[in-house]
Amino acid sequence: MDESDVPIQDKDTVIFFDTTLRDGEQSPGATLNVDEKLEIARQLSRLGVDVCEAGFPIASPGDFDAVRRIAEEVGPLTDGRKSNQPMIIAGLARASKVDIQRAYDAVKVAPRHRIHTFLATSDIHLKHKLKIDREECIEQVIEAVTFASSLCSDIEFSPEDAGRSDPDFLVQVLGEAIKAGATTLNIPDTVGYTTPDEFGWLIKYLRENTPGADKVVWSVHCHDDLGLATANTLAGVQNGARQVEVTINGIGERAGNTSLEEVAMAIATRPQTFNVQTNIDTTQITRTSRMVSAYTGMVVQPNKAIVGANAFAHEAGIHQDGMLKNQQTYEIMRPETVGLHASKLVLGKHSGRHAFRVRLEDLGYGDLDKEELNAAFQRFKRLADKKKVVTDADIEAIIADEIYQPPEIWKLNHIQVSCGDNSMPTASVSLTGPDGVEYRDAALGTGPVDAVYQAVNRIVGVSNRLTEFTINAVTEGLDAVAETTIRIQPENGGTAYSLNPQTNQPFVRTFSGHGASTDIVVSSARAYISALNKMLAAREELSSEVSVMAN
Ligand code: KIV
Ligand code: ZN
Repeated sequence: MDESDVPIQDKDTVIFFDTTLRDGEQSPGATLNVDEKLEIARQLSRLGVDVCEAGFPIASPGDFDAVRRIAEEVGPLTDGRKSNQPMIIAGLARASKVDIQRAYDAVKVAPRHRIHTFLATSDIHLKHKLKIDREECIEQVIEAVTFASSLCSDIEFSPEDAGRSDPDFLVQVLGEAIKAGATTLNIPDTVGYTTPDEFGWLIKYLRENTPGADKVVWSVHCHDDLGLATANTLAGVQNGARQVEVTINGIGERAGNTSLEEVAMAIATRPQTFNVQTNIDTTQITRTSRMVSAYTGMVVQPNKAIVGANAFAHEAGIHQDGMLKNQQTYEIMRPETVGLHASKLVLGKHSGRHAFRVRLEDLGYGDLDKEELNAAFQRFKRLADKKKVVTDADIEAIIADEIYQPPEIWKLNHIQVSCGDNSMPTASVSLTGPDGVEYRDAALGTGPVDAVYQAVNRIVGVSNRLTEFTINAVTEGLDAVAETTIRIQPENGGTAYSLNPQTNQPFVRTFSGHGASTDIVVSSARAYISALNKMLAAREELSSEVSVMAN
């Protein structure tokens, strides 16, 4: 049965709280710079996200600045939003006055803002991590929430590791949090331990037993360690949670968080089952997913639900036959619903700027500025000289390569390689440096890509370790565009760090880069320069933060 045929009245709205820029950015290698965070926040606003957790302001001056700029620049936006209301911008804070004040100072410029404070409640965290007892925990929660609500009227409290906490202790803590002024109570399954039955039961139990439960919004925040995050989140919704905490592509600590696209599409596809509505514009899902993947360097697995490359592909003959007879035989969602379009217009070398712009608008990139549009058009023209037909996937790869890039500190001019089974892979490289001067060098390597990286290293001179290298063809055929994603980590103390709110430890960041070209060596070189530029920019940011902190 197609549930969408059945009308449902008076549905509750489920609030989408997106934490891609906070919990998502905590995933190893997902480091984002301020401009990337701003761009993602703007896209989350277009997607219809209700609350954007923009970061953890106490973590570093850079994190504070990113949250403040999102509050200032994205906080007021209402364009294209179903709800007609701007996003609430939230900042995370541990249950301490210094953290809470810092979070408030970062978000307060947004017309709608929230402080999200948390403290662990499981015995294992109280005993080993916080070294406090249950009474001290309650006192700290009361003090933190009371202070937060003296600053702002929208306060979220999360008992960290609620999934492994004693439910009756949670009732006590949450009752006190409500009395102290919390307006949203978020129940995290921090380590992804619970099952849907247990988690659904916990939400119901807390709602039925916590004094004042009807005065607050109940929220769920699940991690995917056992692959149950989406199922647990939906079990929460079925038991009365009216806020879901999610990330784009499910990125996040360890195995990640619940993915926004999975929950949004489950609710949209099974309206009778969940009987709730959302403010999400599902047609923005694909674009958001690609942007987050390009900026974070976290490649989406091809079989990932909703946004994986194969999510709407039908390979088996029997499936294809069924699809030709009636799409509903094997398709429970239309690809257009998530913003995937079959190309209506074929672009080639005779296509002009107008046709290119119209295609970009159809693909959801109508808001590029003049400079970005020019850069993308030049790339399109160069590609069309090499490829007969330029597809939507090619255009999206161009956009990712041209537009979603960090500021260019080093610029790639040319590379030349020689390789083969009987020769030593050799590369010569020309780069323009931050001083505007052209630098050239050459190196040997284990293969052509390695030779290019060695030559670049000789010029740039920053030691780093390559931790991941992925290359994919975005379309079929020998003339396909190759998209490369790489990750590097600074070596020899050249670190850039941030504070992890849960472990309280600074962590060394990993930097990702991506590039696209019909030539795989050029694509790899562009990806490497992009990652190096990101790492160098973070290093500069860190040294200015250190001098600010020293003053
Ligand atoms: O997983 C978790 O417990 C968190 C909290 C800060 C909400 O991310
Ligand atoms: Zn989390």
